[in-house]
Amino acid sequence: MKLIWAAGLVVCLAPLQAQDEKDHPPNMKTINASMKMLKASLETKNVAEAAEAAKKVEAAFSETRKYWAARQTKDALDWSDSAITGARLAQAGVSDGHWEKVSEGVSKMGGTCKSCHDVHRERLPDGTYKIKN
Ligand code: HEC
Repeated sequence: MKLIWAAGLVVCLAPLQAQDEKDHPPNMKTINASMKMLKASLETKNVAEAAEAAKKVEAAFSETRKYWAARQTKDALDWSDSAITGARLAQAGVSDGHWEKVSEGVSKMGGTCKSCHDVHRERLPDGTYKIKN
């Protein structure tokens, strides 16, 4: 009985953990680093780096999206979806060798950063950031 209860608890808590506030900043850092890598690979036309960066940025946006999905924050969900669409477009561009598609994907993602930060990001006096719901 005890074991069944414990297993149930693990199943219930697992999705919650992915939506935890503390998981947000590491994912944003990944997004930032991957965007830089993707932009650099656009210049150098480095296929392997572009593929890796586009994949990472999609995964990180999908993770942060869970946070907003759990809170049903419509605007943040729309920006997240737009960024994910951009990341997928970039990946498609890398795999079929159409760099203009990669560039379009980068612009689509880039268009979401400031919009969401203006509404949902707060800069603390020590220079770190926190989520504004
Ligand atoms: C859907 C909303 C949303 C989108 C879209 C978004 N961000 Fe963020 N970002 C946040 C929030 C909220 C924070 C503050 C909490 C945190 O640090 O994760 C943040 C924080 C950050 C930070 C600071 C991380 C830290 O704590 O040091 C960086 C860097 C960042 N974002 C980069 C980006 C870039 C680059 C993009 C676009 C390619 C982007 N973000 C798109 C919501 C968003």
